[in-house]
Amino acid sequence: MSTLTMLDPPPLPVGWPVERIDTAHPHAARVEDYLLSGKDNYQIDRDAAEAVLADFPQMRQIAAANRAFLRRAVHTLVADGIEQFLDVGTGLPDHEHPAETIHALCPGARVVLADNNPVVLTHAAARLRGPQPQRTAVIEADLREPAAILDHPALRSVLDLDHPVGLLLGFVVHFLADHDHPADQIKTLINALAPGSALVLSHATAEGQSHLARAAAEHYHDAGIPITLRTPAQIARFFDGLELLEPGLVAQPWWRPDEDPTEDPGLNWGYSAVARKP
Ligand SMILES: C[S@@+](CC[C@H](N)C(=O)[O-])C[C@H]1O[C@@H](n2cnc3c(N)ncnc32)[C@H](O)[C@@H]1O
Repeated sequence: MSTLTMLDPPPLPVGWPVERIDTAHPHAARVEDYLLSGKDNYQIDRDAAEAVLADFPQMRQIAAANRAFLRRAVHTLVADGIEQFLDVGTGLPDHEHPAETIHALCPGARVVLADNNPVVLTHAAARLRGPQPQRTAVIEADLREPAAILDHPALRSVLDLDHPVGLLLGFVVHFLADHDHPADQIKTLINALAPGSALVLSHATAEGQSHLARAAAEHYHDAGIPITLRTPAQIARFFDGLELLEPGLVAQPWWRPDEDPTEDPGLNWGYSAVARKP
């Protein structure tokens, strides 16, 4: 008898290494999917998300605000002429994943989606390939090994690193501990990109309602998903050597909002910025 519940994701395609799908522990991408009202999550993920929500009910709005920030950033970069994107820690698709925004704005865009989670890769391959699949690659890669990302043959076949690339690091760097040297990993990626390239980064912080932010981070930790909250000053270091676009590094709802954001400081869990490589 199937152990899947009504809400569990569909079976994986034939040939996928099922033994690599860990359904015994919550996973960051599937917890986020639940927060975004998606259906690609398991009971274990829903339980972890509900524990966070019990202390920090704004987390659903924060997840949505993060995706909305990424879409606005992509709009900005495409309008500035960037036609290549590398999205590391791409996550599960919501109603309009940033990769779909890129392809809607620029059907010929070249896009590489990278993640270290097999469920994410399955969904990305199925849904986010874009109108010209040969211009999109989905690769298994880890942000802690940037050289392997850059040397990946699929990336090299899709991206021309002599031309600007938009590097998207949405809500992924806080999953790297300080001993993972996130600033160095980001620097390695940026150094390989052409002048005019851009970094789009969002990151969790305890700024704002710090006791709630810390409670949320503790729930993630208890669920086996350690998050390193960083101060805005620490997040700003990831942009060293780059030119920040206006309005700089700000709480997500305040990065070039389409409409006036609400004043709820609890929504300031994520800080974001976009910067260009001179
Ligand atoms: C919270 S989701 C963010 C998804 C999307 N970028 C966004 O901003 O909504 C974090 C994603 O990063 C991935 N991830 C976590 N650590 C990673 C690492 N070291 N290397 C690559 N991907 C990672 C997870 O599998 C997950 O898909």
